[in-house]
Amino acid sequence: MTELVVDESTLVLGIETSCDETAAALVLGGFDVVSNVVSTQVDLHSDFGGVVPEIASRAHLDVLNPVIARTIVEAGIDDERIDAVACTVGPGLIGALLVGVSAAKSLAMAWDVPFVGVNHMEAHLYAASLEDPTLEFPLLVMLVSGGHTMLIEMQGHGRYRLVGQTIDDAAGEAFDKVARFLDLGYPGGPAIDLAALDGDPEAIRFPRAMMDDGYDFSFSGLKTSVMNYVRKHPDVSSEDVAASFQAAVVDVLVTKARRAAADIGATGIVLGGGVAANSLLREQVLDVCGRDGIQGFLPSRSMCTDNAAMIAAAGWHRLRSDGPTPLDVGATPNLRLPFID
Ligand code: KG4
Ligand code: ZN
Repeated sequence: MTELVVDESTLVLGIETSCDETAAALVLGGFDVVSNVVSTQVDLHSDFGGVVPEIASRAHLDVLNPVIARTIVEAGIDDERIDAVACTVGPGLIGALLVGVSAAKSLAMAWDVPFVGVNHMEAHLYAASLEDPTLEFPLLVMLVSGGHTMLIEMQGHGRYRLVGQTIDDAAGEAFDKVARFLDLGYPGGPAIDLAALDGDPEAIRFPRAMMDDGYDFSFSGLKTSVMNYVRKHPDVSSEDVAASFQAAVVDVLVTKARRAAADIGATGIVLGGGVAANSLLREQVLDVCGRDGIQGFLPSRSMCTDNAAMIAAAGWHRLRSDGPTPLDVGATPNLRLPFID
């Protein structure tokens, strides 16, 4: 394999199979999305109210090859044009991750191009820059997904400092659990977002844990408080509960992100992860950014949830900074972001 010069003409195939979306994408020069295919398994898991790891791995096996093939066909290119293959190596479900990692390594070997292992969380950080490549550091990134809730100071490409994180449930997990309790459907985040449109966010004053206390979050008490309230008031409208719960989560997230952004002198707040698709969160982040004279970078909803364009973008940056990943690197279910400090 000749050494690859990573520049604007480098075309990276991204592959994502860490959870319940099978995705592939082709991204040129780290920013330009040429094609982007996502096959969701939501229907397969909805009866169980959550992702079933065995079902997820099997479904990835079934659809990954067709998803990759469609990505290449939609881009209108030949395989030979692909310069590198990037794939999520963690965090995620081990069986699910291994499907993508094995496919990515096989393709890299067959095509004789570099393989680059990508941290899924780092990829979420890059989703906003795919749509706005003009981001200026330092940035305050709020990463809110089903498994993580973090405030991160992004000082430059690959330079992250952890500002705060949840000490119990992730924000998305709280949305999912409350939606299941209210029987609103699966996945819970979009279901609560929708129900909240018809509810009164001020109907019930749910607690805002640790609001004035540092940058960490806690959502498990809020979830319990929603359950206790509904048990005591069985006739309450689900829409009011959904709207009031959502308002409490968003209030804490936005208040802390705003304070952290001011503290680090951020040029803007970047949203990433599935919960970043939430309507109220998006509206309030833009509102505080406008008031504070900083930028609010909100990836489109399809870029907030799991996709492979963000994997290809993060892969392009990693390839440029660190070079290819050795093929003996495996999947790491609890992979962490490489924080400084
Ligand atoms: O980033 P993601 O697609 O997968 C993980 O890496 O976890 O995030 C999924 C999470 C789920 O908890 C889902 O309920 C939540 O994101 N989510 C939302 C919305 N859309 C997805 N939460 C609140 N409002 C939404 N509109
Ligand atoms: Zn994710």
